[in-house]
Amino acid sequence: MKKLVVLTGAGISAESGISTFRDAGGLWEQHRIEDVATPEAWARNPELVLRFYNQRRSKLREVEPNAGHRALVDLEKNFDVRIITQNVDDLHERAGSSRVLHLHGELRKVRSERYDDLIYDWEGDLLPGDLCENGAQLRPHIVWFGESVPMLQSAAQLASEADIFLIVGTSLQVYPAAGLMAYAPRHIPFIYVDPSPQVNWELQQMPNLIVLAEPATTGLPKIVELLGEKTM
Ligand code: APR
Repeated sequence: MKKLVVLTGAGISAESGISTFRDAGGLWEQHRIEDVATPEAWARNPELVLRFYNQRRSKLREVEPNAGHRALVDLEKNFDVRIITQNVDDLHERAGSSRVLHLHGELRKVRSERYDDLIYDWEGDLLPGDLCENGAQLRPHIVWFGESVPMLQSAAQLASEADIFLIVGTSLQVYPAAGLMAYAPRHIPFIYVDPSPQVNWELQQMPNLIVLAEPATTGLPKIVELLGEKTM
């Protein structure tokens, strides 16, 4: 089976009711990113950071995967589909996708602030005083701005093995995720589905680029049809 590598961003979950990041004038759910999604914010005001992610976690329980997530599951019939998502929600998994790599962490996990490999599933609120088994405070299992991206190597390896590269619902502004295409073979088909596509420098280098300026819920079912008909 051909390997279809898919890079997803906040846009694929927008129609499920989860806000994207760069829509509201740089604010994310009424917060500045520097106040809730940086190591400095965590050091300065951990209560605020925990409250923010508790709200995100509780919102996640109210939303459902949409037709865009489900279209990526359909593609598994004909392709070896590997999703690399920048999203911290679990909507790909809940839709039924079998191989999902989370580049920026996962809302439904927490980890020790001192021992990086102590990672736990977490359902309810995370509070000051919730500790790992070695007695250190637990923090959201999220890659914050200014932190390294531990899954980058695995994502780059996947990209290098792609036969087709699909990009969905991302502004391609945040690196290193936005540069992953550069690890893929240049000649393969690249397909970018986004209602406001922003073709970045890396994508401009690709000779076989198809851009579909549509939301994920209508665009991705079309891509499923296209890939079903064509031997690309
Ligand atoms: N379907 C598909 N795409 C959509 C839809 C939709 N219904 N609605 C909006 N979009 C697109 C927007 O046009 C935009 O290009 O989703 C993209 C969202 O862009 P961002 O908000 O910048 O999200 P993303 O690219 O995922 O951000 C990357 O930045 O804040 C950090 O770590 C965070 O993972 C995040 C990273």
